Amino acid sequence: MKLRLSRRVVTLFLLASLGVTGLAMQPERYLLTPKPGPAPKINGPTVYGARPARPFLYRIPCTGSRPMRFSAEGLPASLRLDAQTGIISGKTPDKPGEFTIVLKASNSHGRSRKTFKIVAGDTLALTPPMGWNDWYTHYDRVTDRVIRQAADAMISSGMADFGYQYVNIDDCWMVKPGSSDTELGGEPRDPGGAIRANRRFPDMRSLTAYIHGKGLKAGIYTSPGPLTCARFTGSYQHEEMDARTFAEWGFDFLKYDWCSYGKIAPDKSLASLQAPYRQMGDILKGLPRDIVFNLCQYGMGDVWKWGAEIGGHCWRTTGDLGLEKSTRLPGFYSIGFKNAANFEYAKPGSWNDPDYILIGHVGNASRIQDPPKLTSLTADEQYSYMSMWALMAAPLFFSGHMGYLDDFTLNILCNAEVIEVDQDPLGKQARVIRRTEEEFVLAKPMADGSLALGLFNLSESGRRMKVSFADLHLKGSYRARDVWRQRDSGQVAGAYSATVRPHGVSFVRLFPENQKSGR
Ligand code: GLA
Repeated sequence: MKLRLSRRVVTLFLLASLGVTGLAMQPERYLLTPKPGPAPKINGPTVYGARPARPFLYRIPCTGSRPMRFSAEGLPASLRLDAQTGIISGKTPDKPGEFTIVLKASNSHGRSRKTFKIVAGDTLALTPPMGWNDWYTHYDRVTDRVIRQAADAMISSGMADFGYQYVNIDDCWMVKPGSSDTELGGEPRDPGGAIRANRRFPDMRSLTAYIHGKGLKAGIYTSPGPLTCARFTGSYQHEEMDARTFAEWGFDFLKYDWCSYGKIAPDKSLASLQAPYRQMGDILKGLPRDIVFNLCQYGMGDVWKWGAEIGGHCWRTTGDLGLEKSTRLPGFYSIGFKNAANFEYAKPGSWNDPDYILIGHVGNASRIQDPPKLTSLTADEQYSYMSMWALMAAPLFFSGHMGYLDDFTLNILCNAEVIEVDQDPLGKQARVIRRTEEEFVLAKPMADGSLALGLFNLSESGRRMKVSFADLHLKGSYRARDVWRQRDSGQVAGAYSATVRPHGVSFVRLFPENQKSGR
C-alpha cells in the first residue's frame, strides 16, 4: 500500500513529536455534525412572513432519502403544495392573518411533521434570511452560469434541506461604463431608462425562473449612487424604475450598497445617511412582490437604530469581513464583536448583518484561482464562526464556492440544531455576557424557554471556561445539550463550565429540567 502523507500532516507529526503545543497542534478538520438519517426530518423555521396577495414560494427544507411524499394540513386555498418536491407556491392570502399549517413528509424509512405558521402581514424575514451570495468567490467574474450552478448545488449538496434558499447575485451584473471588455461595456440603460444587465446575464427573467423552479429565491444588488463599489452602473436617479425592473425580473431580495452615494449625500447627517434607504424602502413596500431589503452601508449612523423603521430587514453593521485585518485572531472575530454589541436591536424582521460566512473554498478578488483556495481558518475557528453567527441571529449567507463544497464545510453549514438557534421565532440576538482578551460568551434566549449559550475561547491554548447561572439569570437545574454533536451532555446547576479548545467554542442549549422538549 502506498502511504501518502501531506506536508501538513508530516509537519504536524514532527511538531507533535517535539512536544510543540498550541495552534500548530490543531487536529485536521474533524466533523461534529451527525449525518442526517434516511428518514424524513423537516427543518427550517416555524414562522414565515409574507405580504398579502403577493406571489408565494417556499420549498419545505427536509432531509432524508428521496423519493419523499409531502403533504400539508391547513394550507390556505390560494396555495398549493407539490407532493414530490415539497414546493409550496401560489399567492399569499389576500387578507392579513396567521395560518397555522402542519407540514408532513414521508418516505420508506419513516415520517416527519412540523407546525409552520405563515404570517400574512407587513413583515418579511421573520427569521434571518439564509442562502448564498457570490461576492467572495466570483467578484467581477460573476455570470448567469455561475448563479445557475449555485442554485443546482444548493439542492444537490443538501443545503436547501436545511433552509438555505436565497441565491444572490452581488455587484457586477450590470454594465460597467467605459469598460473596453465587450462583455461588460455598452449602454447601461435602454432608451426608456431601464437598467440593462451586462452580456454575462443574457436573460434575467429566465435566470430567476430557473431558480424559482427549484423552489429557491433570487437576490440582486445595486447602489443608490451613480456607480456601485466595483464601478458598475448604480441606481442613482432611477431608483423607482430599477426596483420595478427587479420585481418584474422576479427577484426576491435586494442588497442596497452605499458605495458612490457619498458623492451625492450633501453631508454626513443622519437625514442624509437615511435618505436613500428610506426612499428605496418606500418603493419596495409598494411593489407587487415580496423583496427582502438588505441595507449595506457598513454601520454608518448606527444603522441598527433605524434600519427597521425605514423598511430594512437586515443591515450590515460593519465593513467587509473579507477585508478585515487579522490580528492575533482572524477577522471574523472583530466583525463578530462589533456586531454582537448591537444585540438589543435585533427582532423578527430586523436583523444585524455581520456579512457572509467566508469558509470553504474562497475566491480571489483580482484573479481566478482554479481550484479556489481553501480557507486558512482552523476547524475550531470555523465552528466558532458559525456558532457566533447563529447566536447573533445573523442572516446566514455562505459566500464560498458552491462548486467545491466538501464534507467539512457542509458539516459547518448544515447542522440543523445550530441553524435552529439562528432561526428561533423569538428573534432575540444573543446578549454579550463576557468579553475579555481570552474569553467571549454569548447567551441567546429561545422561544421555548431554553437558553443557547456559546463559550468562545479566544486564547492560544485549551482553557477551562465557566459561566455562573447568576450571570445568565438562570435558577434551578438544566439539561445541557451539545448543539454541534446534537446530544445531551448532562445536568447542570449553579454554573456551566467546559474545557474549550484554542479558538474553539462550547455551544450548548440549556433546557429547564422541568421542561419537556421534543429532543
Ligand atoms: C461592498 C460591499 C460588499 C460587496 C462589494 C461589491 O464592499 O460591502 O459586500 O457587495 O461592495 O463591490
